[in-house]
Amino acid sequence: MWWCCRPSRTSKWAGRRSGRGTRSFRRWASANLDETVFTAPERLDLGRRPNPHLTFGRGAHNCIGAHLARAELTVGLEALLDRFPHLHLAAGQSPTWDDTSPAKSPLTLPVDW
Ligand code: HEM
Repeated sequence: MWWCCRPSRTSKWAGRRSGRGTRSFRRWASANLDETVFTAPERLDLGRRPNPHLTFGRGAHNCIGAHLARAELTVGLEALLDRFPHLHLAAGQSPTWDDTSPAKSPLTLPVDW
């Protein structure tokens, strides 16, 4: 997922200077894969603690729907795992990804249950 913004003042982000009003893009998904912050960042670990992810942004524009999104995901994942308690990635197969999408969405997710 990415966002475009124009900083209201000159700022520095990851060592790079961004002038006032310069169009810049932030990729939250990429920040969540920062190996200097997360151990094994590519692993889906729902119990990760601490978990300073940026999925819902941060600060003044933090996602206003974060609680709803979390509730929907909790209900959805619980229902899925109730129905398929042994759900797991299919042996020897990997997801395929839509690399053209800024959200880096999965195109396929081969599973067995
Ligand atoms: C998994 C689901 C969701 C993700 C990953 C997500 C992600 C984000 C992120 C990263 C931002 C910050 C953008 C920025 O800094 O400029 C944001 C803002 C926002 N989100 Fe979400 N969001 C989700 C679901 C929702 C839902 C369900 C709603 C509404 C029902 C919602 C409404 C908003 C609104 C209104 C903002 C703007 C807040 C502001 O600028 O003050 N989001 N979201």
